[in-house]
Amino acid sequence: MEISNNFQYSCSSLQDLIHQLRSIFDSDHVDIDHVKDLLNSYKSNPADWRQFAKFDTHKYTRNLVDEGNGKYNLMILCWGEGMGSSIHDHSDAHCFVKILEGLFRETLYDWPVEEGDVPKKRCVNLYEKNQVTYINDTIGLHRMENPSHVEGTVTMHLYCPPFDHCRAFDERTGHTMVCPVTFWSKYGEKVDNGFKKPISAATSPKTTPRIQH
Ligand code: SIN
Repeated sequence: MEISNNFQYSCSSLQDLIHQLRSIFDSDHVDIDHVKDLLNSYKSNPADWRQFAKFDTHKYTRNLVDEGNGKYNLMILCWGEGMGSSIHDHSDAHCFVKILEGLFRETLYDWPVEEGDVPKKRCVNLYEKNQVTYINDTIGLHRMENPSHVEGTVTMHLYCPPFDHCRAFDERTGHTMVCPVTFWSKYGEKVDNGFKKPISAATSPKTTPRIQH
């Protein structure tokens, strides 16, 4: 007999997913496994999310889909061939990721033991379309990447609570930098962010953090 761990959810579309997420997060107590099960139950359909999937030729994009009544941000990230983030934390938020298209590589790191130490690589996970993963700061740090050099990757991220900055880590020097995180588009419309210099806590002249800013 097969026992499914997402028997309780069935999700017909992105709109349905948004609706059910809002209802889960209406409660004061949210079970992480329920959110994962719900995300798992949605089967990616490009017709649902194409309007939010905006690619840029130079960097990966963060595209806001829903503000979840102020409790979380649901967004779609588009990663061109070989694009990736810096190693970063999640500002004490819960981070759920579902792969909508393509392949996605996560490299997990341990937190540096002391300020200035380099983050220690723990493992590498490869995810495919429709898979779901989760991280928070107690699990560690990660770098996310599109490992393909021929195809783009589209991922859906839910961050609870929403945050507007995170800390990026330089793998070689251990230097850290506080980076504002912004949106390339909101509800399908391009946002004009102007030019924003990242807020620097400690910078390494030779490296540019790859977290979106
Ligand atoms: C992630 O942390 O899952 C991706 C990076 C981002 O949100 O910009």
